Amino acid sequence: MKRVKKTKQQNVANPMWGGHYAQGPSAIMAEINALIDVDQRLYAQDIRASKAHAKMLGACGIIKQKDVAAILKGLDKIQKEIASGAFVFSKALEDVHMNVESRLFDLIGEPAKRLHTARSRNDQVATDFRLWLRDAIDGLDAALRDLLTALAERAEEHAALLMPGFTHMQPAQPVTLGHHLLAYVEMLSRDRARLADCRKRVNEMPLGAAALAGTSFPIDRQMTAKELGFARPMANSMDAVSARDFALEFLADAAILGAHLSRLAEEIVIWCSPSFSFITLSEAFTTGSSIMPQKRNPDAAELVRGKTGRLLGSFNTLFVVLKGLPLTYGKDLQEDKEPVFDAVDTLHLMIAAMAGMVRDFKANKPALDKALQSGFLTATDLADWLVRNLNMPFRQAHHVTGKLVRLAEEKGCQLDGLALAEMRKIEPRIANEIFSILTPAASAQSRKSLGGTAPELVKKAAQRAKKG
Ligand code: ARG
Repeated sequence: MKRVKKTKQQNVANPMWGGHYAQGPSAIMAEINALIDVDQRLYAQDIRASKAHAKMLGACGIIKQKDVAAILKGLDKIQKEIASGAFVFSKALEDVHMNVESRLFDLIGEPAKRLHTARSRNDQVATDFRLWLRDAIDGLDAALRDLLTALAERAEEHAALLMPGFTHMQPAQPVTLGHHLLAYVEMLSRDRARLADCRKRVNEMPLGAAALAGTSFPIDRQMTAKELGFARPMANSMDAVSARDFALEFLADAAILGAHLSRLAEEIVIWCSPSFSFITLSEAFTTGSSIMPQKRNPDAAELVRGKTGRLLGSFNTLFVVLKGLPLTYGKDLQEDKEPVFDAVDTLHLMIAAMAGMVRDFKANKPALDKALQSGFLTATDLADWLVRNLNMPFRQAHHVTGKLVRLAEEKGCQLDGLALAEMRKIEPRIANEIFSILTPAASAQSRKSLGGTAPELVKKAAQRAKKG
């Protein structure tokens, strides 16, 4: 735990509200109140929104144009100072808003004090945060597009590579590796769509709500909304300063996306295990063991799986902060930023690591072929043959096939290892041609129904996915 200095009152009142306050906060008050280590990430958005606000105040005749000019110049200078690392953030000034405003006063003097007209930190922070998250969603979308491209390319490459498909983690029916990878293309495409939808609700502007009730100054919220690229000013000032469902929705979407990445990560872990050996990851995406020289551990996949816990944790954090919080602003809301920042950073790592692994892995055909030789993967094909050729009701065909599976089990062979005569003891109408449908390749090829695993369909789907 970070050590907090012994509680001692600072003797200077915060200049931002010094009129009412004679003294500064105790050290522990300052410590619990300060957010600057976290929210300095919002500096560019804070400056951008302040510039839009100042221009609007000038245009509406609320402050003088020469003050606007001084403010804009000062803010541009601060932007450069922060970007270059020269800016010294002060904890005593609590957050990014007051750090910037205080520096503005150092730089330009009196006009700086006019910037906060018709504005509160309550609408200011909500605006900054929305601007930041809007960009963050766009960044994640680009990262996801890259991962989708990687998946589509590998799916096309392996459109016809056969492997066992599983249900209950038990061998079920032959599929192609391309088909399996394209399932994740579908999931992650929905994640993209979810984020794009969330972005619509992020992209509404709180600025101009002021503290909670609006302002008596003749501001033009349409003008600031346009300047900042928001779709519209938010309709209710109390909602504008209190609402954080835009961030909560983002975190829900992030957690769902994380769950998808985690499922793929788990498959990679399983497929890399020597008991499966379906794929191999190179040294670039594995680690060795300090004690067991033979090991090649899929740490990146395990970490993608593990980090998903953080994403759900972040959703949970903000959910609990919000529930039961009365309108309007409460300082609890200051806890909104860390989980969102962490989720964005975590997702970038997870998506990049996953794209790396998807591009890196090599499929191991001999191991896949071997796996196709157990688990009676073509039992459904046999039952379907009975239905199609003998007009048997499916339930009965299922029963007959079950008996044939049991016979093969007893003999220690697969279905195509049974002699025709043996099969005919169970169902005399079975014909020799049945052997042609009992191979994994024939099985996959026959599954041409829309969305099925037939290699020709998989290839087309992969090509479509590559186009995005
Ligand atoms: N740092 C604060 C936050 O992130 C800014 C808003 C503070 N407003 C206030 N009335 N104390 O939520």
